[in-house]
Amino acid sequence: MKKAIYPGSFDPITNGHLDIIKRAQNLFTEVHVAVIHNPEKKAIFSMRERIDLIKECFAGQENIFVEGFEGLLVDYAAQKNIFTIIRGLRLVSDFDYEFQMALINRKLSPKLDTVFLMTDEKYSYLSSSLVKQIASNGGNVQEFISANVLDFLQEKAKK
Ligand code: PNS
Repeated sequence: MKKAIYPGSFDPITNGHLDIIKRAQNLFTEVHVAVIHNPEKKAIFSMRERIDLIKECFAGQENIFVEGFEGLLVDYAAQKNIFTIIRGLRLVSDFDYEFQMALINRKLSPKLDTVFLMTDEKYSYLSSSLVKQIASNGGNVQEFISANVLDFLQEKAKK
């Protein structure tokens, strides 16, 4: 039984994130997607909205669990008793931040290890921030996010 946590802000979840989760499903018996507040980013979707959108993407898949958490990732990991963290890597530019985060997390909790998975190259340029930027300026983001996320984004834009 090998379980892993895939943490992120997922504001909103993109096809790049979905690609990482599918890859993780091939490696782990359970993948726990943790929607965690990133103090460095201003979210436009509420925690509840982000969780529900991810749950919809994996409806009926019993090895995917989705929940929200406020606080330190190491505390969430200890609470779940899961000490493998998954993070996606897109470009080399992700590496500095990810390396720092993996090492600080291991410093805070020596049992914790981070496994990096490479996204499909077709998502290497994709980020939630860019999706939001394009959508808020009237651009088409259909190929970057799943249909349920697109519907939700469009509904939100009307309000
Ligand atoms: O999708 P993101 O925004 O790159 O995810 C970053 C996230 C939420 C995983 C990271 O900011 C995080 O772990 N936040 C919780 C607070 C924490 O544990 N900070 C110390 C390690 S950076």
